Amino acid sequence: MKMKIAVIKGDGIGPEIVTEAMKVLDKAASVYGHEIEYRQVLMGGASIDAYGVPLTEETIAICKDSDAVLMGSIGGDTNTSPWYKLEPSKRPEAGLLGIRKALNLFANLRPAYLYKVLSDACPLKTEIAQKGFDMLIMRELTGGLYFGDRKTITENGIKKAIDTLEYTEEEIRRIAIKAFEIAGKRRKKVISVDKANVLDSSRLWRSVVNEVSKDYPDIELEHMLVDNCAMQLVKDPSQFDVVLTENMFGDILSDEASMITGSIGMLSSASLNDTKFGLYEPSHGSAPDIAGKNIANPIATILSAAMMLRYTFDLDKEADSIEKAVSDVLDEGFRTGDIYTEGTKKLSCSEMGSEIAGRIG
Ligand code: IPM
Ligand code: MN
Repeated sequence: MKMKIAVIKGDGIGPEIVTEAMKVLDKAASVYGHEIEYRQVLMGGASIDAYGVPLTEETIAICKDSDAVLMGSIGGDTNTSPWYKLEPSKRPEAGLLGIRKALNLFANLRPAYLYKVLSDACPLKTEIAQKGFDMLIMRELTGGLYFGDRKTITENGIKKAIDTLEYTEEEIRRIAIKAFEIAGKRRKKVISVDKANVLDSSRLWRSVVNEVSKDYPDIELEHMLVDNCAMQLVKDPSQFDVVLTENMFGDILSDEASMITGSIGMLSSASLNDTKFGLYEPSHGSAPDIAGKNIANPIATILSAAMMLRYTFDLDKEADSIEKAVSDVLDEGFRTGDIYTEGTKKLSCSEMGSEIAGRIG
């Protein structure tokens, strides 16, 4: 197969981790006889430095003309980076939100899985960690508070900031359908998370999810309030299979879920639209404090590349082999600094990439 992949290395540790994911993809392509054409484009801080804006029409056009986008992470230290002296619509994050919207990537899949050998790195009590967990957070990505009108005004000498939280039933329906479809291929359970005891948008969310569930009689549906969900995630994470939720709740809950896997450096993600196209990136940020030191964990990006092979290219065997290589490397005791525990072998970012690539095929 010939794959056309746009690559956004991004800022901070982005270039280091994407380089490792490309190393692994190249190995998989050579073992299984595929051809990859990479097209590197800029977005985020690197684009601001080059073009004065975080996202250009050219980047959007090249992404649209590709089968998929592989991305690292964008942004810098919000306290010290000059990017954060710019107005909010010109900052790196605006590029990320812009590209999600421009490519209509409404469904964000964030799998959180506890590898048995990493249960020591899991901050939960041993008896909880030992039960393990395997969940998929389905986060709505192009609506809600992130994309509603916002402004700061002054009324009678007092500043007032307004962010608007909107959802249409269509926006809810399309992500709910994806969640039920995917749950059908997993443990057949959807937990939909909202704040229906307070918010109208959540009450609409709940009623649309109930409607959609009627078409999926074999999938169990449960509704959970977001504050309770935050608690349940650390109390009994094994109860979750597919977690369906809106943009802001999904942002927060997926960071929490990633932490209980041992490290945020393990959590991959896929952002999908209605077609096979997708943008694949780790769920973590650009970690400017460790950038350029070759110590970042590339596993989340490598697992995101595996998701790309699975969801965009339908190459399940190739995706399986990357996922297996990751778990083999962990089983053999190799770790990056973030998941290192005594008695394991600490690797740099590039060494971890090479170890994984070396086990493919
Ligand atoms: C994420 C990130 C982004 C988000 C930021 C960088 C805008 O935290 O992908 O989770 O909030 O969506
Ligand atoms: Mn986030």
